[in-house]
Amino acid sequence: MLRYTVLTLFPRLIEPWMQEALLAKAVQRGLIEIRVRDIRNYAKDKHRQVDDYPYGGGAGMVLRPDVVVAAIEDQLPADEVILLTPAGEPLRQPLAEELAAKDHLVLVSGRYEGIDARVENFVTREVSIGDFVLMGGEVAALAVIEATARLVPGVLGDPESHRLDSFSWGLLDYPQYTRPPEFRGLKVPEVLTSGHHGKVAEWRRREALKRTLERRPDLLAHARLNPEDLRLLAQLDADEDAPAP
Ligand SMILES: C[S@@+](CC[C@H](N)C(=O)[O-])C[C@H]1O[C@@H](n2cnc3c(N)ncnc32)[C@H](O)[C@@H]1O
Repeated sequence: MLRYTVLTLFPRLIEPWMQEALLAKAVQRGLIEIRVRDIRNYAKDKHRQVDDYPYGGGAGMVLRPDVVVAAIEDQLPADEVILLTPAGEPLRQPLAEELAAKDHLVLVSGRYEGIDARVENFVTREVSIGDFVLMGGEVAALAVIEATARLVPGVLGDPESHRLDSFSWGLLDYPQYTRPPEFRGLKVPEVLTSGHHGKVAEWRRREALKRTLERRPDLLAHARLNPEDLRLLAQLDADEDAPAP
């Protein structure tokens, strides 16, 4: 069982998300637990103030460290206390795999101009979901939950399905097709309807390598490639270099 505790000023942004689809099923089946805690409940003054003006001036408000740290400490013990921030380590599949193997993750969502930097001393890691700035950490916390919960054994119907996903081998996924076999003149590649499992597997691997080479060549440096992959890549490279007919 993987337990998440999300700390947020807007619990109602998180709650509906866990009531639908696979996450709801995983919660019902006791495979994961998602708790949401309102940071405001940890404000001690009578106005329940959670933020204040930034020292040194500037626009916006900053979340107070005393309030956020009280919220964090109330959730301990935890394997990881994760601060969601654009300055964090990028969320990638290996990190999702590492986090999915834990028992309790605390996810701290900021708002406004962010959180007082002293809070960094009370977290175990800082995670970013990409090189852009969100209005708050809730979507980032949900991204961490989505990326990790599906790796918890039993959450996906077919335990094999995430093994072949984009990034699981360090490559992008191969293109997928379903019915109808022809749509607006666009046909499904013949090999997929051939019933020849070996050829399908080879085609998929080739397509995954091709997509990765075309769209995210940076991933190839860390991908798990076997000698056959290297042969296919060399062939794809040669095809690209060949003059157009
Ligand atoms: C408006 S942002 C603050 C941005 C901050 N001034 C900065 O530039 O780093 C408010 C909150 O959204 C969350 N957030 C924004 N972008 C994010 C990202 N790319 N990844 C993770 N969390 C993010 C963080 O929790 C942050 O405290």
